[in-house]
Amino acid sequence: MDDTIPAGLDTSTAHPARRYNYWLGGTDHFPADRESGDMLERAHPTVRLSALENRAFLQRAVRFLAEEAGVDQFLDIGTGLPSANNTHEVAQRRVPRSRVVYVDNDPMVGLHARALLTSSPEGRTRYIEEDLRNPAAILEHPQLTETLDLNRPVGLILVAVLHFIPDHAQARGIVRELLAALPSGSYLAATTFTLDHSSPEQAAIAREMIAQGRVDAHPRTHAEFAEYFTGLGMIGPGIVPVSEWLPEVPAHQRPAPELTAVYGAVGRKP
Ligand SMILES: C[S@@+](CC[C@H](N)C(=O)[O-])C[C@H]1O[C@@H](n2cnc3c(N)ncnc32)[C@H](O)[C@@H]1O
Repeated sequence: MDDTIPAGLDTSTAHPARRYNYWLGGTDHFPADRESGDMLERAHPTVRLSALENRAFLQRAVRFLAEEAGVDQFLDIGTGLPSANNTHEVAQRRVPRSRVVYVDNDPMVGLHARALLTSSPEGRTRYIEEDLRNPAAILEHPQLTETLDLNRPVGLILVAVLHFIPDHAQARGIVRELLAALPSGSYLAATTFTLDHSSPEQAAIAREMIAQGRVDAHPRTHAEFAEYFTGLGMIGPGIVPVSEWLPEVPAHQRPAPELTAVYGAVGRKP
């Protein structure tokens, strides 16, 4: 893999995109990512299931937005390494003219995204290397302004990324700033890691690992996650464990909330 390592990429520390790719069964990860992934798996043995269910939510949410909500423009921040059924593929399968701007802060994601996240002829995909903590830089980026018409509804996708902002108030401010730039009829689809359904023992272990800096994802409570959706009309069941949002399989096939430890929701800006 050495010939594909982009300049400036630090492979000595774990990065969320590569660790997530490892859990999803991909090939774009380094020893530090696998070590971190295995360590987290020991603390939360169903972490691979969490990753898969989170990814399945992303696909159901994008399908809903394209098919039922009439959204044909997407801003997907925290893209992840390309895998099966990326946002533009799901959207363009329903609405070929769909335009998707991807944003991530991992150079490895950038390398693969530019090569693999290629659009249908009718639509368009663009990739911006930027940090979610700089929403103004994202919103003003020429790749975004040339691709998305911010006078028409946009589907803002913040799936499994807000929990990498340690400070909840900062994350809430970022969501507010992004939504403020989008017109009425836009949507927010988001997920977050939570300990709301974990046993006190499990939650204590996770909090200890976070305090020690061994876990970089910061859990959010139901009330905190709800703050990202303040003022939005909630779609379907509202804020629910990720597998329960407009599910496509019967209840007995869906994992219990403590196994996924992820909330998901979609809201519409009035
Ligand atoms: C767990 S993956 C989720 C990928 C995809 N959204 C999904 O749910 O399948 C999290 C992604 O967020 C990116 N990320 C983490 N912190 C970020 C930040 N501050 N700015 C931009 N991207 C970030 C990581 O590089 C990674 O690709």
